[in-house]
Amino acid sequence: MIKTNLSDISSPIKSELEIFEDLFKKSLKSNVTLVDLIARYLIRQKGKKIRPLLVLLAANVVGGINERTYRGAVLVELLHTATLVHDDVVDNADKRRGFWSINKVFKNKVAVLMGDYLLSRGLMIAVEGKDYDFLDVITNTVKRMSEGELLQIRKTRKLDIDEATYFRIISDKTASLLETCCKIGALSASKDPSFHEAMRKFGEYIGIAFQIRDDILDYEGNSSTIGKPVAGDIKEKKITLPLIYSLNQVSKNEAAKIKKLIKNIEQKESVKEIIEFVRRNDGIDYSFETAQNYSRKAKELLNIFPNSQSKLALEALVDFVIDRKN
Ligand code: IPE
Ligand code: MG
Ligand code: MG
Repeated sequence: MIKTNLSDISSPIKSELEIFEDLFKKSLKSNVTLVDLIARYLIRQKGKKIRPLLVLLAANVVGGINERTYRGAVLVELLHTATLVHDDVVDNADKRRGFWSINKVFKNKVAVLMGDYLLSRGLMIAVEGKDYDFLDVITNTVKRMSEGELLQIRKTRKLDIDEATYFRIISDKTASLLETCCKIGALSASKDPSFHEAMRKFGEYIGIAFQIRDDILDYEGNSSTIGKPVAGDIKEKKITLPLIYSLNQVSKNEAAKIKKLIKNIEQKESVKEIIEFVRRNDGIDYSFETAQNYSRKAKELLNIFPNSQSKLALEALVDFVIDRKN
């Protein structure tokens, strides 16, 4: 049976996810009115909860969910939420998860500070639990995520980006956190370093596939299903895999013309023309095949673990990540 919706995939750990939800909400309680207001606004938006799902499933596959696993799941979702709030400031995005973004409703100043608050709450939870092994990996992840975003900003300004740089960016800005989720899940449930490493690598591959899918959705998605603006990347002059590949398929001359369109993207017709160009040159198909290769490699890494419902769920999650519509 192929499961490709998240509620089926998470069915083996349904009650554990409820415990997580409860702890996550509690972690956001604050006496400061504005913080509490924004926190409640964030809780109402249903994210996919892929990162906590990865922590919980990875823990189950290597040994079993315990108290530490829950702290890890709360930590990564807080950090993830922080990065989304900051990302919408950086990208000037007005929609997220189908809701107005925090920067749109409360302005940039508030969004920046709220992001900091969420990040520090996450780190505090690990400190309070004395989960220093989590802190060790998560602080490195925060650093990599910032580096990835900064590299992306520099490349965006220059409009020069090749596949190798693209992979470095997505590995740092997105895959690093999914990698960390799987590693934290494994750390919480087993002492075996080979399990930690297999899960880390699994997370890296699923993370790369996840971001490629995200970049494809920017081309072919529809804003009502993805819950955020479509073609946002092109409008921000961000060159991702579908476009990198397409630019490499054509003459220098034609590539230069397309880049000129990106430079002057303010015209609406330019966005359309670039999307057409990518379709014509198979940029989307190529990106999808690349994502599929990573998902295949991710599944292979699970071979060392005994079969279980949670392992099946992790495999299904890999399929979900590249089939998802939001
Ligand atoms: C969005 O992540 C940010 C990226 C790394 C592309 P998700 O698509 O997992 O966001 P939510 O939590 O489901 O909204
Ligand atoms: Mg961004
Ligand atoms: Mg995107």
